[in-house]
Amino acid sequence: MPADDGVIAPPVELRAAMEQVAVEVDRHFDLLLEVPDDARRSLYAAMRHAAIGGGKRLRPLLVCAACDLFHVDRQAAMRVATAIECIHVYSLVHDDLPCMDDDDVRRGKPTVHKAFDEATAVLAGDSLHAIAFELLAEEATHSDPFVRIELVAELARAAGPAGMAGGQAMDLAAETESFDLPTVTKLQQLKTGALIGFCLEAGAIMGRVPPEGRGRLRNYARDIGLAFQIADDLLDVEGDPEATGKAVGKDAAAGKATFVSLLGQDRARQQAEILVEQAIAHLASFGEEADLLRAVAAYIIERDR
Ligand code: IPE
Ligand code: IPE
Ligand code: MG
Ligand code: MG
Ligand code: MG
Repeated sequence: MPADDGVIAPPVELRAAMEQVAVEVDRHFDLLLEVPDDARRSLYAAMRHAAIGGGKRLRPLLVCAACDLFHVDRQAAMRVATAIECIHVYSLVHDDLPCMDDDDVRRGKPTVHKAFDEATAVLAGDSLHAIAFELLAEEATHSDPFVRIELVAELARAAGPAGMAGGQAMDLAAETESFDLPTVTKLQQLKTGALIGFCLEAGAIMGRVPPEGRGRLRNYARDIGLAFQIADDLLDVEGDPEATGKAVGKDAAAGKATFVSLLGQDRARQQAEILVEQAIAHLASFGEEADLLRAVAAYIIERDR
């Protein structure tokens, strides 16, 4: 990663890696979510609707890229990757509900409560949440139960009130309370950063890296997590609903405090660019085995979806 010629990320096969992970995640969900021949069929159909065939699969890609650094078995890594995508998809299903963002379109399809109904959407989210922990707790994820427990505890922390769910609560409050930049930063770190942080932490846990050896990956995760949410907020202002597969203009309409509302588009974009450069700099002591992580960091602010 030469810093002197202005190139912030090397050309690696990011697209191929994303497509590969997407196929693998779809295959896992297809096997996990077989529709039973009883009254749960619409619950399973709703989970399939939400989980299969859409999204960038960025979190699974991060898990796989982090696991690759430590030569973790691919099948085991994919179980962790599917677990975090379960939590992410559940968070989207609930985020779209009328009591939260009240959205009709997600990943270019009707949201779950539109395609099914609200009760089914709540239960589909609940079920995906539970399946995530089931996946991590099973022996196929890692032969050492201490590793599995650490994954479970980390994901619980990242998804709960000190992580994503807490961030969502702050995000709702941001519609009516006036938040300053440090408060919005904390909100974003919880709402989006915590689950992204889990992806890198999980790679280190699966690779048996002790906590004191995880600093570089934690710093990388913190910076790309923030950059990722700034990019999401910019897409809400500048994005195309066709490309993003979701409604735009929602944050301003809700009067929500975001990086973009506080800094304006140009400064928010600059801030995201600085964060991505910083994130890549945290990987300086890794060799080409971290090129995929570098490419993901650059993609996070270049994306149009
Ligand atoms: C959208 O996440 C919600 C946020 C946390 C900002 P993504 O942009 O990763 O959504 P998908 O998975 O690609 O649909
Ligand atoms: C949702 O944030 C984040 C989570 C689901 C945790 P947003 O409300 O900004 O996500 P989009 O823009 O609807 O995808
Ligand atoms: Mg929201
Ligand atoms: Mg939303
Ligand atoms: Mg958004």
